[in-house]
Amino acid sequence: MKFHVLTLFPEMVEAALGTSITGRAMAKGIICLHTVNIRDFSLRGDGRIDDYPYGGGAGMVMQAEPVMRAWESLAGELPAQTRVICLNPQGRVFDQKMAEELAGGEELVFLCGHYEGIDERVLDEIVTDHVSIGDYVLTGGELPALVMMDAIARMVPGVLSNQESGQSESFQGGLLEYPQYSRPEDWRGKKVPAVLLSGHHANVDRWRRNQSILRTLRNRPELLKTVTFDKKDRKYLQALITGQAEDEITQEQAVFLSKLLAITEKS
Ligand code: ADE
Repeated sequence: MKFHVLTLFPEMVEAALGTSITGRAMAKGIICLHTVNIRDFSLRGDGRIDDYPYGGGAGMVMQAEPVMRAWESLAGELPAQTRVICLNPQGRVFDQKMAEELAGGEELVFLCGHYEGIDERVLDEIVTDHVSIGDYVLTGGELPALVMMDAIARMVPGVLSNQESGQSESFQGGLLEYPQYSRPEDWRGKKVPAVLLSGHHANVDRWRRNQSILRTLRNRPELLKTVTFDKKDRKYLQALITGQAEDEITQEQAVFLSKLLAITEKS
C-alpha cells in the first residue's frame, strides 16, 4: 500500500507514520509513504499558498493553483482510478468499514487542507472522496489523514504481527471489544474474573462474547441494531433484562434491549 500525502507539514506526517507499528511496516516495505509539500508549488516569492476569500469573511483560503500543481507532480505515476481523499468536516464520516474497503486499493492520495479551506474549483477537479473523522473541527487535515492511514495500514496483510488481532477487535461483527487482563491475578485487591483462569475455552469465549455485548449496550447501544444474535446471545440478553445475569443494566437499557429483541425476533 502506498500513501501519497499533499500537505503543508510533511515532517509531521512522516514523523507520526514512521513511528511504532506503521513505522515497522514502512521499514519492511509493506507500506510506503510519499509526501508532497504544497508550499513547494507556491506561485509567490514568499512561499505562501493562501489568499483572502471572495465574498469576505474570516480566515484565508488555500489557492487552487498550488494545490493543482502539487497534485500534477504525482498524478502521472498513479494507477488509473486512484482515490484522492480530501479531509474535511463536511465529508462522509470515516469508520472501520471504510478502512477495510480502502485497504484493498494499491495507492491512496490524501489532500490535507488548512486555514478556512481549499478553493472549491480544485477540489472539483481532483478529489474523489471527502472524508471527516468525526463531528469536531481540527486545525488541519494532517491528523485526520494520519488517523485514516493508521486504521487502513493495520488492515493490510503483514502489518500486524498477529493477523488474528485484526479480527477479534472492536467493530468486527459490530461489537466493541471485551475487557482484557494480564498478570498479576490480584492487582491492588482487584481480581481477574475467575472464568479467565479456568482454562475452559468455551466458557471463556462465551464470557468474552457476553462482555462485548454488555460493553456495546453501555457505550454504543446504537451499534447493537446491526448485530446478529444467536440463541446463546439471546439467553444472555434475556438474563440481563430480567436481572438474572451477573451484570447489571439500567432500567433504560433493559427497555432498549426488550425492544431490540422484539424487533430482531420478527425479522
Ligand atoms: N479537518 C478539520 N477537521 C476535520 C475533521 N473532523 N475530519 C477531517 N478533516 C478535518
